[in-house]
Amino acid sequence: MSFQSVPKIELHTHLEGCAPPSFIRGLSQEKKIDISGIFTADGGYAFRDFDHFLQVYEAACTVLQTPEDFRRLTLAVLEETARHGVVYMETFVSPDFCGGGDLAAWRDYVAAMQDAATEAEAKFGITLRGIVTGIRHFGPEACTPAAKCAIETFGDFITGYGMAGGEMVGRPADYTYSFDMAREAGMPLTCHAGEWGGPSMVAETLTHLKVARVGHGIGAIEDPALVSEIAEKEIVLEVCPGSNVVLNAVPGWAQHPIVKLRDAGVPVTVSTDDPPFFHTTMSDEYNMLARTFGWGEADFAAINQTALAAAFCDDATRARVA
Ligand code: ADE
Ligand code: ZN
Repeated sequence: MSFQSVPKIELHTHLEGCAPPSFIRGLSQEKKIDISGIFTADGGYAFRDFDHFLQVYEAACTVLQTPEDFRRLTLAVLEETARHGVVYMETFVSPDFCGGGDLAAWRDYVAAMQDAATEAEAKFGITLRGIVTGIRHFGPEACTPAAKCAIETFGDFITGYGMAGGEMVGRPADYTYSFDMAREAGMPLTCHAGEWGGPSMVAETLTHLKVARVGHGIGAIEDPALVSEIAEKEIVLEVCPGSNVVLNAVPGWAQHPIVKLRDAGVPVTVSTDDPPFFHTTMSDEYNMLARTFGWGEADFAAINQTALAAAFCDDATRARVA
């Protein structure tokens, strides 16, 4: 059985990371920017490990230059994502890749992405919300303008603040300033942690950044007391199994801790992260969870209910996409 047509809620994607390699290659040719080194012979993205993945990701971002580039990207991504049954999607967008943290420029990028989202909602029946992200390996100072951009555009489309990037750079406490700013402005928060950093990184993220959701969070599994705390506090994990397997954060699908986390009472959700980079789609994620762990319709209904309840959108949107 294929789960392609099952309606899905996806909370953890990176907009630039959803760009098909053909889209990025096309833009690079239009703009005469040579990034041929980031592609494999058969046209995929070429990377060796997580750090190299981040470098290739940033090289791909160099061809995404104008609001119009982001409008086209958003529309293309939503058309493809909707094909896999996704009816509601959240995506990380970063001022660092959209005008370099300049607020006036950022407003134009947001308008372009929101315009594409409105068009895609009418055409493909998928709703998009944006979560502004600071990029951790750019350092805490770069997260301040990102959070300012987030706060100034917080509204119907930009609905949350978070942080992605190299998790082993600094400690969560180094990043409190931007998270405090966003929280004080009333923004819901999420942060990548426990993809690489183990349970201490997840614990420190909860303590210092006070997030409602954690991106990945799988490293928590090594500390049963932390798993219990996450379950008790109903911190939602944005789990991306296919990403974890391809990046070697886990040895393979069979060893992925998503079932153990779920069985311990942790609210888990399922997302793709950066689908073309990891040769995955939401249909693939569901099909692999079914094949590896025997998940079926009831399991998927439960994770979608968890995801919808944890979505950074208003209740009217929640009711409409349910
Ligand atoms: N940016 C894009 N994908 C990411 C990931 N899996 N972890 C951290 N930062 C990212
Ligand atoms: Zn991610």
